[in-house]
Amino acid sequence: MRSLLVTGGAGFIGSNFALYWAEKYPDDRLVILDALTYAGNKANLVELEGLDTYRFVHGDIGDQALIESLMLDEKIDLIVHFAAESHVDRSIHEPDAFIQTNVLGTHNLLKVAREVWLERDDAPSWHRFQHVSTDEVYGTLGPDDPAFTESTAYAPNSPYAASKAASDHLVRAYHHTFGLQVTTSNCSNNYGPYQFPEKLIPLMIVNALTGKPMPVYGDGSNIRDWLYVDDHCRGIDLVIEKGAIGETYNIGGNNEWTNIDIVKQICTHIDNIFAADSELRSTFPDAPAAAGKPTESLITYVKDRLGHDWRYAIDATRATNELNYEPVETFESGLQRTLKWMLDNESWWRAVMDGSYRDWIEKNYSAGE
Ligand code: NAD
Ligand code: TYD
Repeated sequence: MRSLLVTGGAGFIGSNFALYWAEKYPDDRLVILDALTYAGNKANLVELEGLDTYRFVHGDIGDQALIESLMLDEKIDLIVHFAAESHVDRSIHEPDAFIQTNVLGTHNLLKVAREVWLERDDAPSWHRFQHVSTDEVYGTLGPDDPAFTESTAYAPNSPYAASKAASDHLVRAYHHTFGLQVTTSNCSNNYGPYQFPEKLIPLMIVNALTGKPMPVYGDGSNIRDWLYVDDHCRGIDLVIEKGAIGETYNIGGNNEWTNIDIVKQICTHIDNIFAADSELRSTFPDAPAAAGKPTESLITYVKDRLGHDWRYAIDATRATNELNYEPVETFESGLQRTLKWMLDNESWWRAVMDGSYRDWIEKNYSAGE
């Protein structure tokens, strides 16, 4: 039986991971630590409530005394580190929190882990620090560039990417210098249930359902590799189970799309679902699809994001060869599942959306600028 500290476990990927882990390894202890920022929502974990193995702690990864007492009291031997500020647009708007949490917060976790796992007589015989990171640390690609491998040089372009790159380097250094048993995964863009509607896919779905403009940055030609969140969770599981200590693993979906193609696919799915379902037409009366109009009429090209990376692509050969990692969800099925979840969970997305940030986005990304 392992005792996990899952940081950021009330956020999008962290909560999906906690639900995945509780089902797959029901005997493991799951301690979720989350600061419940705008992106964290305890309700994401409601299915775990009542389990003896589950504990939720509201706190900050930068709180040294809290981390130390949690690690000792709960005999933590596995940290899975998701907690971060994660949205590029916010990092352009207000970068400080990204340095605080992603850099200093990660360092605090590493420092306490080193003390508890490497410097105490009662240290556990086995320990692991799994750091969850992003492909954005590698920078941007041109149309014919090969996909990112684990040896691609870091070239982060946004404050978000730079803060994640710094955290990756700290994790590496704590292994190299002190012998902390670490693994790192660098993953492409995730989508799925519980994703905060500021990221491309859930934002476009919400705006389509509520009849708001669907803001496409620049000309919509930017490319991302998309992975259904469950496939990421399985990839992290494989890295923990089979990954080599001190190594990094790229996790991706082999699934590159331009932004405008994704937005158009969402529009087509919504048109088709609404055409076949009169109940949806009355639940979301502001959606153009409720009146039989094409959802694409909401697409609005807006001013480009500052420093916008043009293309990300992941070469996951190492994870495939060494860990037997393969994504199982197709983009078609993953998008359908996500859309169905959003349609079934209107109260969730209405509750989590933050008015003041929406105002900022609308001001900075308004049509025609
Ligand atoms: P998210 O923004 O949905 O969730 C982040 C969570 O961390 C929230 O619950 C928030 O409350 C919590 N948190 C923030 N600051 C904290 C602090 N100081 N102490 C404790 N908790 C804190 O993010 P996500 O999309 O779930 O991403 C999770 C991790 O995966 C991040 O490290 C991110 O860099 C990485 N990642 C994300 C993607 C993606 O597409 N979303 C892709 C690759 C990697
Ligand atoms: P996002 O979901 O913010 O992820 P990331 O920036 O980490 O890749 O954005 C994905 C892509 O979609 C990115 O190229 C920016 C673009 N985008 C839009 O065109 N409009 C939007 O409203 C948002 C949020 C993103």
